[in-house]
Amino acid sequence: MKLSNALSIGLLTLPSVVAWGGLGHITTAFIASHFVSNTTQAHFQELLRNDEPDYLAGVATWADSIRYTSWGRFTKNFHFIDAHDNPPESCNVDFERDCKESGCVISALANYTQQSLDTRIPEWQRAQAAKFVIHFVGDLHQPLHNEDVALGGNRIHVLWDGRKYNLHHVWDSSIAEKWIGGRHGSPYLLAKKWANQLTVEIADGKFAEEKDAWVKDLEFEDPIATAMAWSRECNTYVCTHVFPEGPKAIVGQELGGAYFEAAGPVIEKQVARAGLRMAAWLDRIAAEYEKRSQGDVGDEL
Ligand SMILES: *[C@@H]1O[C@H](CO)[C@@H](O)[C@H](O)[C@H]1NC(C)=O
Ligand SMILES: *[C@@H]1O[C@H](CO)[C@@H](O)[C@H](O)[C@H]1NC(C)=O
Repeated sequence: MKLSNALSIGLLTLPSVVAWGGLGHITTAFIASHFVSNTTQAHFQELLRNDEPDYLAGVATWADSIRYTSWGRFTKNFHFIDAHDNPPESCNVDFERDCKESGCVISALANYTQQSLDTRIPEWQRAQAAKFVIHFVGDLHQPLHNEDVALGGNRIHVLWDGRKYNLHHVWDSSIAEKWIGGRHGSPYLLAKKWANQLTVEIADGKFAEEKDAWVKDLEFEDPIATAMAWSRECNTYVCTHVFPEGPKAIVGQELGGAYFEAAGPVIEKQVARAGLRMAAWLDRIAAEYEKRSQGDVGDEL
């Protein structure tokens, strides 16, 4: 009784600003686990102490679970960047203009990438850094995590198949859930199935031709530039698919029909991109970490 009271109070007081929903994050991480190299897999399975196929997927939503705790509050601005652009006329992201002093998803990805390479910090801290990296690569691929308008759409109320939601939630969860045919069942099983399908599409299906372009500009030495490129690409969808008629016109609209038909393929492609890019990023982290830790051994000899 007490426990359920506490739980329901906890749920009620959760702010409406929730991150790119569980399905998107978990699917992205499962896709990444299909594309990482064997040595990368071994590196992260050891670091995250999980030999199962869900070693990445199992930690993909951890960063959301701590952001409203008193310990985790310092991370609350790490999940997004508030692009102060003007959709639908102009979409753009500017690091100097849009990243808050307390941080944003761009600086957070850079910060935790550095920490995951640091041979001098304890393993638990590198594991924590890895969990942040896995989460923030996902967040960077949700259009409304790369937009300021109405708190990334949190303050815009719309209809989704007749029910009221905020627009941010629609882009975090509703579109993906409807795209895969509903959310009945375990999110892990749904995500795994969707990830398997998207892995085939990336490897030799509809994304095969463009997949190299997705990782071509990845600059591991410059995480800010890389994250900004992903952010800018994602933010363009704010003008074309999130607010094609502008933020005012969407208020109260039913989005489960034609809007969904246009948005579904965007979400699908963004999840696929995020998964492949996460794999490439984790490959670089694992390789660089191994290089540095061998260098340390050499120095000591
Ligand atoms: C990676 O591991 C898989 C399965 O464990 C194996 O089939 C494959 O040959 C390995 N690849 C390399 C390059 O070692
Ligand atoms: C970097 O990570 C550390 C450890 O979590 C955190 O205390 C710090 O605020 C972060 N800095 C930025 C700029 O993200």
